[in-house]
Amino acid sequence: MGRAPGRFLTGSENAGLVTIVTSMTNHDELAGVSGTQQAAIAVVDAHAAHNYHPLPVVVSEASGAGVVDIDGKRYLDCLAAYSAVNFGHCNPQLTAVAKEQLDKVTLTSRAFHSAALGPFAAALARLANKDMILPMNTGAEAVESGIKVARKWGYEVKGVAADQANIIVAEGNFHGRTTTIISFSDDAEARDNYGPYTPGFKTVPYGDADAIEAAIDDNTVAVLLEPIQGEAGVNVPPPDFLPRVREITSERNVLFIADEIQSGLGRTGATFQCDNVGVVPDLYLVGKALGGGIVPVSAVIGNEDVLGVLKPGQHGSTFGGNPLAAAVGLAVVELLETGEMQERAKRLGERLLAGLQEFEGKGVTEVRCVGLWAGIDIDPDVATAREVCQNLLARGILAKDTHGQTIRLAPPIVIAEEELEWAIDQFGEALGDFLA
Ligand SMILES: Cc1ncc(COP(=O)(O)O)c(C=O)c1O
Repeated sequence: MGRAPGRFLTGSENAGLVTIVTSMTNHDELAGVSGTQQAAIAVVDAHAAHNYHPLPVVVSEASGAGVVDIDGKRYLDCLAAYSAVNFGHCNPQLTAVAKEQLDKVTLTSRAFHSAALGPFAAALARLANKDMILPMNTGAEAVESGIKVARKWGYEVKGVAADQANIIVAEGNFHGRTTTIISFSDDAEARDNYGPYTPGFKTVPYGDADAIEAAIDDNTVAVLLEPIQGEAGVNVPPPDFLPRVREITSERNVLFIADEIQSGLGRTGATFQCDNVGVVPDLYLVGKALGGGIVPVSAVIGNEDVLGVLKPGQHGSTFGGNPLAAAVGLAVVELLETGEMQERAKRLGERLLAGLQEFEGKGVTEVRCVGLWAGIDIDPDVATAREVCQNLLARGILAKDTHGQTIRLAPPIVIAEEELEWAIDQFGEALGDFLA
């Protein structure tokens, strides 16, 4: 299109981009989308890499469980940024803390101490009943950090021979997008053409404790699991799975690392999904909701005997534990300490499960729901999950498909009961459109 770099697009150039996007994006999906939104989507498609396939809605404002698009249409958010917005969009308790911190200090790096880090670290460790935290930013960084800590612990404490450590992971896992993490993914989309891959991982079927026991050898330093697999479609393991993993790993001197980045911090009706099954892992990995939907905040949480292997200079992050993140993280922990969010997710989750079960056998083949987190399998003879999500979008509900036939619902925990009822009704109507 021959324009100078850095110059803003004129209206007619923007209009030109609409032509580009319609040739890249499914025409049906843009039907009914306003010209204003199509133009906004076109700019993103032209200048941001196409590593996502968003539903065609352009959000400009949000609060609580509601979002508003650039045309002023309101929607109920039933995804909550993959659980990063557990406590609602622009939660006033959290934004007030962020605004106050913005005027104090936002970044020192860990070269110096900041007044905010200590209280945050102490509070988060207390919430998890552990000694200390390793603060990072994104979820993937927390996972990477957990892997590094486990390997270091393996060599320096357990006595594994140099470079021989292995970590057991599960089929269908999703732990993020770094080169090492995708090395042990079995999702071709996430993994293909990013090799050479990081060695040192063994994959076993999810939910199979015997397979874990059989896979452990003298060089196994950790078992890394999602207590519920989120990306895989809210895949809930048998109730005795995590307790058995805990038993086996304790007996064999292997660390149990629970990736609670999506399942933790209120979503499942408890502080951690591990709490729901009476299990205490060696390391918790947390992220997403820890930043209150405001800033990326993640952490590895554990005891000194494990996290203590890290010495100055051996791991780090310029932004990890920065004062803004720490202030928001502390406010999130304080919110969770009251237990209200966990209680609410549990109560509303029971309603969500009961509501969704009504559709089993009527366009839905299976519903899995823990707390306010549901995976709904759409009957392939009826529609794809994406088609149902498109229909929900038109009805004012934001939801996201995963793996073709599954819809994941994870509304902000602050959602009002009437909003949840409305969402369940709309889901029924949307499904009904395909059954008719
Ligand atoms: C269980 C789990 N671990 C790790 C991650 C990665 O988090 P992030 O996208 O913040 O890197 C995700 C993201 O969806 C996740 O669900």
